[in-house]
Amino acid sequence: MECSECPSARLAALQAAWLAPLRTRLLRRALVARRARVLDLGSGHGATTLELARRAGGSVVALDRRPLRPDPSCPTVGADAVSLPFRDCSFDLVFSQFFLLWAPLGPALAEVARVLAPQGAFVALEPDFGGLVEHPASTAVQPLWMAALERAGADPLVGRALPSACAALGLEVEVHLASASPPPSPRRFDLLSELPLLPAEAAALARARASAHGAPPGMVAHLPVFGVLAHHPCVRFGR
Ligand SMILES: C[S@@+](CC[C@H](N)C(=O)[O-])C[C@H]1O[C@@H](n2cnc3c(N)ncnc32)[C@H](O)[C@@H]1O
Repeated sequence: MECSECPSARLAALQAAWLAPLRTRLLRRALVARRARVLDLGSGHGATTLELARRAGGSVVALDRRPLRPDPSCPTVGADAVSLPFRDCSFDLVFSQFFLLWAPLGPALAEVARVLAPQGAFVALEPDFGGLVEHPASTAVQPLWMAALERAGADPLVGRALPSACAALGLEVEVHLASASPPPSPRRFDLLSELPLLPAEAAALARARASAHGAPPGMVAHLPVFGVLAHHPCVRFGR
């Protein structure tokens, strides 16, 4: 385990691949190709940084309080998201993925609103573990996620809180949810195993993993991910 706030680089890349359809939908809707100054907030290993650089119409800055894989092609800044080292209105697009669950939501969003240019867009993908749907019951690990994330200092319900927190800052908000759920991957248990688990939780995880082995027919593991597109009022995006 490198750090409970960020999965290993391999799992972060896999997680980013699972989120690709929702991310693509939101970034297109935010007109990413026209965005010249882009911030990847809470970039971690950079699982989305190079993709943003490919898709954007300009340059990308990656920021994390613990930048894990600085990329030579994108400037990487080590800083706290509640005190961004950028001037007001510095970015045309601020992007974050599975970051806000780890940050103080109100202060981090206030900084996003501050550094976002008047015509800028904020795109965030954040999970809501309270809505995790798992079947059969013997494969369910939702209580373990809730306990381990809270113990590690994260908010496992950040997804549902995000739209109203953006609105409270005066931002206009659109909410998108994934329209399809990929078949459950055994790697979801690996992600959970990187969090600090008590011995009894680790044993429960091992039982759930064994139960899911061989993919029982009809197995479901669906984590709702809130895709939020927010902007200052009076901005209209194209279709
Ligand atoms: C789960 S990782 C997500 C990384 C990346 N966005 C991804 O999708 O793989 C969360 C990241 O947020 C960073 N982080 C947490 N709180 C932060 C803060 N207050 N300021 C800056 N970065 C923070 C952690 O260091 C970690 O790299």
